[in-house]
Amino acid sequence: MPELHVSTHPLILHKLALLRDATTEPKKFRQLIREISMMMLIDATVDVPVSAITVETPMGSAPGHRLAKRLGLVPVLRAGLGMVDGILEMVPYAQVWHIGLYRDERTLRPVEYYNKLPVAPSVDICLLLDPMLATGGSASATVDILKRWGAKQIKFLGLIGAPEGVARLHGDHPDVPIYLAALDERLNERGYIVPGLGDAGDRQFGTG
Ligand code: PRP
Ligand code: URA
Repeated sequence: MPELHVSTHPLILHKLALLRDATTEPKKFRQLIREISMMMLIDATVDVPVSAITVETPMGSAPGHRLAKRLGLVPVLRAGLGMVDGILEMVPYAQVWHIGLYRDERTLRPVEYYNKLPVAPSVDICLLLDPMLATGGSASATVDILKRWGAKQIKFLGLIGAPEGVARLHGDHPDVPIYLAALDERLNERGYIVPGLGDAGDRQFGTG
């Protein structure tokens, strides 16, 4: 069964309301995306395998753990960029592979413009980062790209999703779990999430 995880954590809910607020300026908006992404990472990595290690404390030996899988962060340009820094602070050894896609405003279809993935996959788990899951076209196309690359395990990590986007991504890729801070009501006639937060790229980079 496809997995959908929608956060109920009070801190995430609090910060999400600030993020949605139309008066939140780009600097604060970027900070909130960074903070929410860091908190969401905890949930999205809860099942990552660990291997047993031993560490030497000042008092003696202690059993410990180390992540046993290589993590790859795959932000979708532009808006996914804002999710990278906070997550990278938590997992500084993760690889970051950017994918450039924009949504054609007329057709709402994704158009790919940047992809420098190496020939063979170099990570075990890909965390696909994009704050908005609207029609789901961009997320589904990015998963297509990652699967053609050879990625075996992919998780979608976003902030706000529409039911249409969840249905599309689950329909195209039932093996990809979706982690969201909120599941909103619907898309409007221009493919924007309602109530959503507007254009995540424009609000981060002051280009609206
Ligand atoms: C936004 C968002 C997603 C996409 C979601 O990017 O960051 O990538 O739209 O829409 P979808 O689910 O209907 O495909 P946008 O196309 O606005 O590009 P930008 O970040 O470069 O502005
Ligand atoms: N892209 C955004 O940035 N916001 C939406 O609501 C839909 C697509």
